[in-house]
Amino acid sequence: MPAWRLSRHFLGRPASVTEARRFITTTLGAWPVVESAELIVSELATNAVRHTASARFGGKFIVSIQAEPDQVWLGVADEGGPGLPRLVRPSDDEGGRGLLLVASLADNWGVYGNQAGRTVWALLKVDPIAAAAQATARP
Ligand SMILES: Nc1ncnc2c1ncn2[C@@H]1O[C@H](COP(=O)(O)OP(=O)(O)OP(=O)(O)O)[C@@H](O)[C@H]1O
Ligand SMILES: [Mg+2]
Repeated sequence: MPAWRLSRHFLGRPASVTEARRFITTTLGAWPVVESAELIVSELATNAVRHTASARFGGKFIVSIQAEPDQVWLGVADEGGPGLPRLVRPSDDEGGRGLLLVASLADNWGVYGNQAGRTVWALLKVDPIAAAAQATARP
């Protein structure tokens, strides 16, 4: 399986979260990590449109997928702002479950960038044998 990379822009509004999730489903449908990838991108896209300048009129966020035989890297690039993505103690009224879920599903995750734009990324390891089996099983 050759490595490949794909990115797509989305408008920085709540409706785009569903579109970003669908982008993952369509693109990674044959990969054993597709369900984790859908959940991760849903949380990161939700954060982009809730906590960053991507939510301004005309704002956007970009979802990138970089697939290699043994791993899938996912990145959601936002338009930044004063706040930092951080793990917080979950609470009923203030949330805090999104990044916790990302951290529990991903083999590794992190953030780079600054106030002008940040990328929150997650890495999912793939068992190449499971990946090949799933690809072969598809109609
Ligand atoms: N892309 C981001 N840029 C800046 N700050 C962020 C970003 N993503 C998350 N944060 C900050 O990190 C905190 C924790 O994010 P997390 O997704 O865990 O919780 P939440 O979005 O507040 O609530 P929930 O996801 O449970 O609905 C957020 O409250 C926010 O302050
Ligand atoms: Mg969140």
